[in-house]
Amino acid sequence: MINKCLFPAAGYGTRFLPATKAMPKEMLPVLTKPLIQYGVEEAMKAGITTMAIVTGRGKRAIEDHFDVSYELEHQIRGTEKEKMLADIRDVIDVCTFSYTRQREMKGLGHAILTGETLIGDESFAVVLADDLCINKEKGVLSQMVELFKKYRCCIVAIEEVDATETEKYGIIDGEEIKKNIFRVSNMVEKPLPSEAATNLAIIGRYILTPDIFDILRETEPGKGGEIQITDALLQLAKAGKVIAYKFEGIRYDCGSIDGYVRATVELYNLEQEKKGSSCA
Ligand code: UTP
Repeated sequence: MINKCLFPAAGYGTRFLPATKAMPKEMLPVLTKPLIQYGVEEAMKAGITTMAIVTGRGKRAIEDHFDVSYELEHQIRGTEKEKMLADIRDVIDVCTFSYTRQREMKGLGHAILTGETLIGDESFAVVLADDLCINKEKGVLSQMVELFKKYRCCIVAIEEVDATETEKYGIIDGEEIKKNIFRVSNMVEKPLPSEAATNLAIIGRYILTPDIFDILRETEPGKGGEIQITDALLQLAKAGKVIAYKFEGIRYDCGSIDGYVRATVELYNLEQEKKGSSCA
């Protein structure tokens, strides 16, 4: 029912300069895996196999990552190291990838609109790969796809953030219609703490219905001069067509140095625990 996942990956990643000068932010590794591969694997677990990626200049490494590397395959075939390619081989075997370029970085809303050509007239998931979400039992996108089957409208993933940090996020307001599920009545992009209605922040997982494209086409630049997905979604929210879901799991903001380091340390510790328990 949700068959496609869109990955807006055209941003400059300026918080990671100079690392992101010639390399896409989405290719930064947490342990041995690039951020975007975590996102693709999360989508696969939610039953999605068509990945649509919005890239920009200097993002070729993403396309190469999701393609076969014959030289490398030849070099390590039959060696111990071969198992390190197991996950990415699986991704390449199961999924199809298509790409389009956002020529000017006019914001997340504009990036999503750029992806229309890859999505067409169907509901779809959106993953911002720099938000790394971990849930061992059921991935965040799997949880959201399940919810979509019931509500059949746009869904944004939210989490409670520190009240001083509302300026970094889109903030929703609404009525909690069921535990952890809100019918959104208002949403504002990056409000000052003094102006935020709640501390419920939108993170980088969405399910969108295709009517969002027509709205985005008409959406004027908002905060920061960028076309904001929050502004477009507000129109649907006013018609009662947006659900916010407080997901189960941990999110690491890998678009920031602090979040990236935390993800690296915590995932490393988890790996060590796994190794420890498999030796015992
Ligand atoms: P961010 O604002 O977090 O990413 O956008 P950024 O601009 O790459 O990073 P900084 O702030 O300069 O460090 C959230 C997501 O939206 C995508 C980004 O790639 C990221 O996944 N995005 C943003 C686009 O694809 N196009 C845009 O014009 C803006």
